[in-house]
Amino acid sequence: MMVGVGGALWTAALLVPAGLFATSTGTPGAQGSGKTRWIRVGRLDDLAAGEPKRLQIVADERDAYTVTKDQTLGSVWLMREGNAVKAWSAVCPHLGCSVDLGSDKKSFSCPCHTSRFAISGKAESGPSPRDMDPLEARVVDGFVEVDFRRFRTGITERKEA
Ligand code: FES
Repeated sequence: MMVGVGGALWTAALLVPAGLFATSTGTPGAQGSGKTRWIRVGRLDDLAAGEPKRLQIVADERDAYTVTKDQTLGSVWLMREGNAVKAWSAVCPHLGCSVDLGSDKKSFSCPCHTSRFAISGKAESGPSPRDMDPLEARVVDGFVEVDFRRFRTGITERKEA
């Protein structure tokens, strides 16, 4: 009897973390798997049409054994167009610095090696090997959600990290 109870507890101890992993909606470590990870970043009404705004990505990080609450995973640039939103990763595709809004407020620029990007995210000058990395965005119940992903830097191709 004692062996049966001990065996059941042992099996449960192994299955609970596996269950947590299986029900995860995605983690930064899982990126590249193609899984979406919609993260709510703010209210649509807080975005002015045509004015880019940077918001932080804050979410729980999960692995097979733990959940760490409210971790800052990065930031994104958002721009409202009517009731839709465009989103780009704020990570510079060159070497990973954080892309700022240009001084004209109608472009993006990277302070590290002076890459410049059009307001559409298109690379215009500097060493960035590609355009800013676009992210999927949607509006749900008045909130903007972003399918947050990270990409490799320093390469022409857009590949998830
Ligand atoms: Fe942005 Fe080099 S990291 S231009």
